[in-house]
Amino acid sequence: MNLADLKIIVTGGAQGMGAHFATRLAEAGAQVAIGDVNEEGLKAVVAASEGLPGKIHARVLDVSDEAQCASFVAWASEAMGGLNGLVNNAGILRDGLLVKKDRVTGEIKKLTKAQWDAVIAVNLTGATLMVRETVAAMAAAGAPGVVVNMSSIARHGNRGQSNYSAAKAALAANTLTWAREFAPFKIRVGAIAPGMIETPMTQGMNQKARDALVAAIPVNRIGVPEDIWLGVKFVLECDYFNGRTIDIDGGLSM
Ligand SMILES: NC(=O)c1ccc[n+]([C@@H]2O[C@H](COP(=O)([O-])OP(=O)(O)OC[C@H]3O[C@@H](n4cnc5c(N)ncnc54)[C@H](O)[C@@H]3O)[C@@H](O)[C@H]2O)c1
Repeated sequence: MNLADLKIIVTGGAQGMGAHFATRLAEAGAQVAIGDVNEEGLKAVVAASEGLPGKIHARVLDVSDEAQCASFVAWASEAMGGLNGLVNNAGILRDGLLVKKDRVTGEIKKLTKAQWDAVIAVNLTGATLMVRETVAAMAAAGAPGVVVNMSSIARHGNRGQSNYSAAKAALAANTLTWAREFAPFKIRVGAIAPGMIETPMTQGMNQKARDALVAAIPVNRIGVPEDIWLGVKFVLECDYFNGRTIDIDGGLSM
């Protein structure tokens, strides 16, 4: 699909990679609808996009809320005059070992169910609801389309990320499930699995852990949102790409 022909939703579009993708899409002439829980961030992304060939529309969205997903998709279709794409990017971290022993007290501590539920609600249930609503709207309109899911290198398993790894592995698996299910609607589904990328999500990391991780990346630097945009752009543009997940991680193994 040509980027300029896209009428596309980007979730988590208020900062980090989502904001970068939305801006790149508007630069290419696309209509973009960004949704995020961060209203101030949404406003800033829209303000910075003034004068670009395309247009960024914005509305508050919590992807873990089923009714909000449905009403956001209806609003986005209306605002953009149609709908033919989704970058399913919103995500959160609530890291913690499933079971750990406190170094000082020796006490056994457990990952809370709240930590588990929060990540699954946004990164898996929310992402799935956004696919369902977007594809239902595109199928009803008979419009071909494309979905890009944001998985992660953590999909292979990563210490301290049971919740996040589970959600990101499921998204990669369902990228193929949905590619098969949506083929009759002429809707493709692909995924990107980034390694460690410089965004607000990783800026909060402990410096020592971050330095150790960067040292393990063969290309010897942390990734930037533009590295991941190149993958998203490829999935959007290549009409023969379907059902697969592309790892963009500088060669990092976790
Ligand atoms: N940064 C990395 O190293 C990295 C690596 C692999 C995968 N990812 C994934 O890429 C995606 C983007 O990550 P990022 O680094 O730009 O993160 P980020 O934290 O900078 O941005 C994520 C955005 O999602 C929004 N969001 C959170 N919960 C939401 C909800 N319930 N509904 C709607 N929006 C919500 C946040 O407000 C934020 O604007 C995420 O899915 C993340 O898991 C990131």
